[in-house]
Amino acid sequence: MTRRSCGALRAGDTGAAVELCGWVHRRRDHGGLIFVDLRDRDGLTQIVFNPQQDAFRNAERLRAEDVVRVQGTVRARPAGTENEKLATGSIELAVDSLEVLNRSLVPPFQINVDENVDEGLRLEYRYLDLRRPRMQRNLTIRHRIIKAMRDFFDSREFIEIETPLLIKGTPEGARDYLVPSRLYPGHFYALPQSPQILKQICMISGFGRYMQIARCLRDEDLRADRQPEFTQLDVEMSFSTQDEVLETMESCMRYVWKRVLERELPPFPHLRFAEVFERYGTDKPDLRFGLELVNVSDVFASTEFAVFKSAIEGGGTVVAVRYPGGAALSRRDFDTLTEHAKSVGAKGMVWISLGAEGIKSSAQRFVSEDDAREIAQRAGAERGDALLLFADARDAALAAAGKMRVEVARRSGLCRDDEFAFCWITEFPYLEIDAETGKPAPAHHPFTAPMEDEWDLVERDPLRMRAQHYDMVLNGYELGSGSIRIHKPERQRRIFEMLGMTQEEIEAQFGFFIRALEYGAPPHGGMALGIDRIAMLACGEENLHEVIAFPKTQTARDLMMDAPAPATEKQLRELHLRPQPRG
Ligand code: AMO
Repeated sequence: MTRRSCGALRAGDTGAAVELCGWVHRRRDHGGLIFVDLRDRDGLTQIVFNPQQDAFRNAERLRAEDVVRVQGTVRARPAGTENEKLATGSIELAVDSLEVLNRSLVPPFQINVDENVDEGLRLEYRYLDLRRPRMQRNLTIRHRIIKAMRDFFDSREFIEIETPLLIKGTPEGARDYLVPSRLYPGHFYALPQSPQILKQICMISGFGRYMQIARCLRDEDLRADRQPEFTQLDVEMSFSTQDEVLETMESCMRYVWKRVLERELPPFPHLRFAEVFERYGTDKPDLRFGLELVNVSDVFASTEFAVFKSAIEGGGTVVAVRYPGGAALSRRDFDTLTEHAKSVGAKGMVWISLGAEGIKSSAQRFVSEDDAREIAQRAGAERGDALLLFADARDAALAAAGKMRVEVARRSGLCRDDEFAFCWITEFPYLEIDAETGKPAPAHHPFTAPMEDEWDLVERDPLRMRAQHYDMVLNGYELGSGSIRIHKPERQRRIFEMLGMTQEEIEAQFGFFIRALEYGAPPHGGMALGIDRIAMLACGEENLHEVIAFPKTQTARDLMMDAPAPATEKQLRELHLRPQPRG
């Protein structure tokens, strides 16, 4: 008697005596027999109870999610009852003995149907949610992705080094999670937003090629593609150029896609930040489809249309997006689309419809046939399409048009989740204006090196500096970021000073790191990829919840464990903490 999994048995096993363990997926009483689909991680097997056996009486009491062990003989299913959709669909197990290992309460949602279950309920009963075949499949794919990553880097002689969780703050643009110290009243560890400083120190220590599957923690506002705890494939290389880092990371993704999804990836196109924003209105372009933005300000240079006129006179831009097949939309459809455009930051939207019976527009009086033809020609639009126009300050118009480009593609069925369009974005600005403080802050982190020939801008015109920073983007998502780092201590100090830090602040926060750079730090660079996002896209999912075993809600709660939870008086005393009244 051998134990097999519920996905293993085939016609060739007919006649074998086997044992199966698993959960009752579904029970059907039919023609005097009891049929149960038994489920484990591997799949489903139909098991059959016959009324002549003792096991039959126990089988009558089986309910969904009871967990059982059965023994019996594999036999071919009667002709006409095979299930081609199931890997085990040509056989069934004729059960001789049944042992009920544990009973289940009635689950709050069904495991055996792929129905839309309330997200809160799924997270509260995550152990049941994770039993669903979709979650088992997703977490298995995630495991394979991580395994392939480790194998790839091992083959290139990288070593995995674990960095600690209790550290000092690592700036990545989010708030730190702090852990109070029991031994040092009023002192805190910070949980790593990334292993950034530590991996750089590994380069200083001479390891040369580091990788880590690293847990990162960031206290930031959550979205479908952000979790407070997430996992990075973190990489750092000494003596490497930007091209070498890009080649390494791109080869890794090609290896992962081949091994896990059996897909060959073409070389990733390279786009410069300035160009990508102009063409797609974002630095995370979705390249599964074209629909590039076109600047049509010159077409309206002498327009009397107040909206365009005031935008252009104010130095702004009019940007057009093609809507394939959009001429079929009704005025009401265009109104709905305009509302959507406003909700993603557009001031408004003008549409031009290139229908069979002629050209129509929401700004009919101001858009001549010639104008419409000129815009259509630039946007590659044909009869039957529509054009959507957005006027605003340059960046705002491009950003809104970029979001509508994606919306149009979604509505036109151009966003297939089994298509993968990777690209590289390079030559980012070094600084950006922080939305909260209004002050310049590093677009990435302060360890990134500026372009080698732009160091003189540090004092003269820092906002014009560009960084040796690169992003990997897939289907409109930022998968990862990296850079060539500053390895000269005096240069690192200059960047901290440029960011407005005093000598005392530099010493308190980063003194240890500058000292490390003073002891023969090699040139180095690296990158981190978000494994959760990679797994999400590889699985064709739209939310990180679908590929993380125990995720937090959008309000950073663990509903299963009910965390965060209040600490006891004793714990608070030991940690020298006093709860503040909420104010
Ligand atoms: P960065 O902050 O860009 O770079 O992070 C790298 C990648 O990690 C993923 N990521 C997230 N995934 C889920 N939830 C989050 N809250 C979250 N935040 C980030 C993204 C992102 O592209 N130390 C640098 C890397 C380096 O320079 O080597 C860093 O952490 O996919």
